[in-house]
Amino acid sequence: MAADRRSAISVTAISVFLLALLVVAGVAVDGRVASSQQDSTTVTTPKTHFKVERPADMFPNTAETVYQNIRAEMAAGYALARMPDLRNYLSWRRFNKAPYRSATHGARYVNNYANRAGQAYGAFEQVGILPKGSILLKDSFTATADGGIYPGPMFVMEKMEAGFNSQSGDWRYSMIMPDGSLFGETKGVSAEAVQFCIGCHATRQRYDHLFFLPEEFRLAPIEAGQ
Ligand code: HEC
Repeated sequence: MAADRRSAISVTAISVFLLALLVVAGVAVDGRVASSQQDSTTVTTPKTHFKVERPADMFPNTAETVYQNIRAEMAAGYALARMPDLRNYLSWRRFNKAPYRSATHGARYVNNYANRAGQAYGAFEQVGILPKGSILLKDSFTATADGGIYPGPMFVMEKMEAGFNSQSGDWRYSMIMPDGSLFGETKGVSAEAVQFCIGCHATRQRYDHLFFLPEEFRLAPIEAGQ
């Protein structure tokens, strides 16, 4: 009986110890992520860091206000990538009403834009096949648990010439980091790093590899397609 109690106590003690270890490890990992994000933010956008409440679950209005405040600086960071076709993306049509969290893009808050050639994106499920030269992109930002706001990567799909890559539906995927560095590009620099984009988007072959955005964040199709 006493032995039982002793072993029960030591099991409890071990569990508490393990739990404490997990908590400490979790804090360390979060801290490292936050500080590395902060580092890259500091290089390009020294003044964007400010705090919001309930960062993981902002109301659309709050997320929109945050975005309006930081988007010019985000764009300045991406512009360092020297990809002239993307430089003026803030003047392109945006298809979402407010930033929304995208589980499939790192749970970041994202926005969807298309250049002129890709305007038919706004027809959503009626999109057909977008023409060569269409560029679709999402810019993104992260809200950390302590309420900090940091620019995130830009996700880009660009429709290339027929035959470019049958697996990707002739889309070239790229991911640009907030400081303008290129994380990877289909058939280009670090192509393997963006292979996972193709894999997931290819499940939507009947919609030209596109997913579109959650219904509640869409601008009305006709409005968006104009
Ligand atoms: C696990 C699945 C998945 C992966 C991996 C993924 N995406 Fe997406 N992508 C989606 C979904 C779902 C949407 C639409 C909803 C949203 O924004 O969350 C989307 C939307 C997009 C859009 C807007 C066009 C559209 O489809 O409506 C772009 C651009 C995009 N993704 C680029 C990328 C890039 C670049 C990568 C790789 C770095 C990538 N995606 C990886 C699922 C994925």
